[in-house]
Amino acid sequence: MTHPVTARVPAKVNVQLAVGGLRPDGFHDLANVFLAVGLYDEVTATPADTLRITVEGADAHHVPLDRTNLAARAALALAERHGIAPDVHLHIAKDIPVAGGMAGGSADAAGALLACDAMWGTRASRAELLSLCAEVGSDVPFSLVGGAALGRGRGELLTPLETGSTFHWVFAVADGGLSTPAVYRECDRLREESGTGATVADVPDPEPSEALLRALRTGDATALAAAVTNDLQPAALSLRPALAETLRAGADAGALASLVSGSGPTCAFLAKDAETAREVAAALAASGTCRTVREAFGPAPGATVVDG
Ligand code: C5P
Repeated sequence: MTHPVTARVPAKVNVQLAVGGLRPDGFHDLANVFLAVGLYDEVTATPADTLRITVEGADAHHVPLDRTNLAARAALALAERHGIAPDVHLHIAKDIPVAGGMAGGSADAAGALLACDAMWGTRASRAELLSLCAEVGSDVPFSLVGGAALGRGRGELLTPLETGSTFHWVFAVADGGLSTPAVYRECDRLREESGTGATVADVPDPEPSEALLRALRTGDATALAAAVTNDLQPAALSLRPALAETLRAGADAGALASLVSGSGPTCAFLAKDAETAREVAAALAASGTCRTVREAFGPAPGATVVDG
């Protein structure tokens, strides 16, 4: 196939992010419960003379256009595996906040992989796609799969989860991003400082919460709100103390739960229903504690070819 192919990929929120100790390879073992939410990036692959990236969207100027872009790395990994030249123009229509803790970069990688696979006719199996995703980044396999899933290992070993209902979310997008490695480093530093230690020998193995999995399964938003946790939240708040005000503004407005999304700085608010979500969104927009407010519900489907 040589015509353009477009893939659409959702953002995610982590409803549980339990972080184990620092491993010798620099990663942390996780019990990471992902929920895909309906904010999407679209990645279009078009035949070209060389690998090239362009980006459109409000945050486009924050996205790298070189080979550090995760979409480029995904295309390169697929091309290398199949011994073909990575000559593709990847255009990213970006709606997911950049460096926000919502897996926007990972979404672009999963989208690029799916779009290039269709365009180049490499016909990678699902297992091969998942292994290429894991090579590119810990959160990329989930961007491919979507829905809800438990991620073990560094987050790449996925078990799909059942969800009994749609959950309504509001996202408060901060000014500027946070670097994921910097947030993990701060988490380690805080653990060292508190005297518990930060390595795998010091920190108990992270385990998924049974109450949280049950709440997802039964579609009970109140029970889910009581069970959400994010071990990276203290680190994100330490690096960006003003996020505490954003979290408070959402809680005051009636959110069932307020938490930092992944490594932040986007804050996520779980609402009882669509109407409450609108109220929480309006209050956050009026609070002056964030740059933009978005509403989305999850679970959302994973990466999908929409055109091509
Ligand atoms: O896998 P990915 O490239 O997205 O990870 C980015 C960085 O986040 C890693 O280099 C590491 O510092 C940190 N990380 C971690 N443990 C994980 C996932 C990511 O420490 N499970």
